Amino acid sequence: MAYKAIVVGALGVIGRYIVERLEQDPDWEVIGISRRQGPSRQRVQYLALDLLDAESCERRIAAIDGITHVFYAAFQPTPGPAAGYASNIDANRNMLVNAVSAVATHHASLQRVILVTGTKYYGIHLGPIKTPARETDSRHIPPNYYFDQIDWLMAYQANALSDASIAARSWDWVELRPQTLCGFAPGTAMSLVPVIAVYAALSKDLGLALRFPGKHGAWTSLYQVTDSSHFAEAALWAALEERASNQAFNITNGDYFRWCNIWPSIARVFDMPWDQPQTISLSQQMPALKSRWEALQQRYDLQKIDFEALVAWPFGDYVFGSDWDVMTSTTKARQFGFHAVVDSEQMFIDLLGAFRRERITP
Ligand SMILES: NC(=O)c1ccc[n+]([C@@H]2O[C@H](COP(=O)([O-])OP(=O)(O)OC[C@H]3O[C@@H](n4cnc5c(N)ncnc54)[C@H](OP(=O)(O)O)[C@@H]3O)[C@@H](O)[C@H]2O)c1
Repeated sequence: MAYKAIVVGALGVIGRYIVERLEQDPDWEVIGISRRQGPSRQRVQYLALDLLDAESCERRIAAIDGITHVFYAAFQPTPGPAAGYASNIDANRNMLVNAVSAVATHHASLQRVILVTGTKYYGIHLGPIKTPARETDSRHIPPNYYFDQIDWLMAYQANALSDASIAARSWDWVELRPQTLCGFAPGTAMSLVPVIAVYAALSKDLGLALRFPGKHGAWTSLYQVTDSSHFAEAALWAALEERASNQAFNITNGDYFRWCNIWPSIARVFDMPWDQPQTISLSQQMPALKSRWEALQQRYDLQKIDFEALVAWPFGDYVFGSDWDVMTSTTKARQFGFHAVVDSEQMFIDLLGAFRRERITP
């Protein structure tokens, strides 16, 4: 095997897709890290550990041999609105420090760290930004844990050449900035597709049309998303592309849309009519429909996934509350060699259809 990766945050809406993508490539062996245990298979093993426990993290990562790449996609949210997640500095910084320093200290074989951040780098969670945002755009006033992660990683790497306690002398990093991942990972705090799927199924069960639950301004603003499989393809590219060394890249599907234009296609997946927006707080109103959802799960013999693990309503409020244009430029990634794109409208049709076929939603 040419490469051995640890995927940190391996059961998340990003990490699990990176694991699956690497698994398809015979050049890669994968160790997935998260607190929950994943299902190990031929070239994929899982290590259940708490990254906030520095001693255990170092001991268990030291016991692996020959790590060449770190894909870092671990994350801890805070309670409350999703726009506040960027303020959770200590946990998110410390998990990165513990994981990367354990690898660099014990694995001279380390070649590259791929750090997943996001478009909150540009303050997209705070209000309107310059569009399209480019990788060179200036930061906003902190707090934002991405800044802490990036600054620590750059300083640690620069120090590696002179610090005798670091075994890996010469390694580099790539930072990837996606927007609103679209995939499936029970237990994640930030996943849009389950929000839409469960909201639609419950609306249909109540005999309602599919109404956009967000702000009127969000209905007509430009938005962008990132298909999780597409992002995993970008992560693999970032791991191996020489020119990507020590660079940051925006990674999205590469197109933009307005919810008002794709909402009819989303309603069609559920065979239901659609209607004009009706702004509600998903976080406040949807939890009350838990027993109705459980009845649907029984009636349609759906997968037994807890309502709370299946869908994170605060993330829906966050996405559908962005009543400004959400646009980043993917030109730099294309110029450096990553050319894949995804049609976002078709992606929603495909993913939501898969949710129905896989009996996640009726
Ligand atoms: N999701 C999005 O829409 C989105 C958009 C843009 C940027 N991003 C960024 O991408 C990064 C990853 O986010 P995500 O959405 O993929 O997160 P996620 O789906 O919530 O996954 C987080 C992963 O981290 C693991 N984890 C959390 N705490 C841990 C700990 N103490 N020890 C070990 N593992 C731990 C979780 O597994 P366990 O719970 O089992 O430990 C899970 O595998 C974040 O920085 C986020 O801001 C995400």
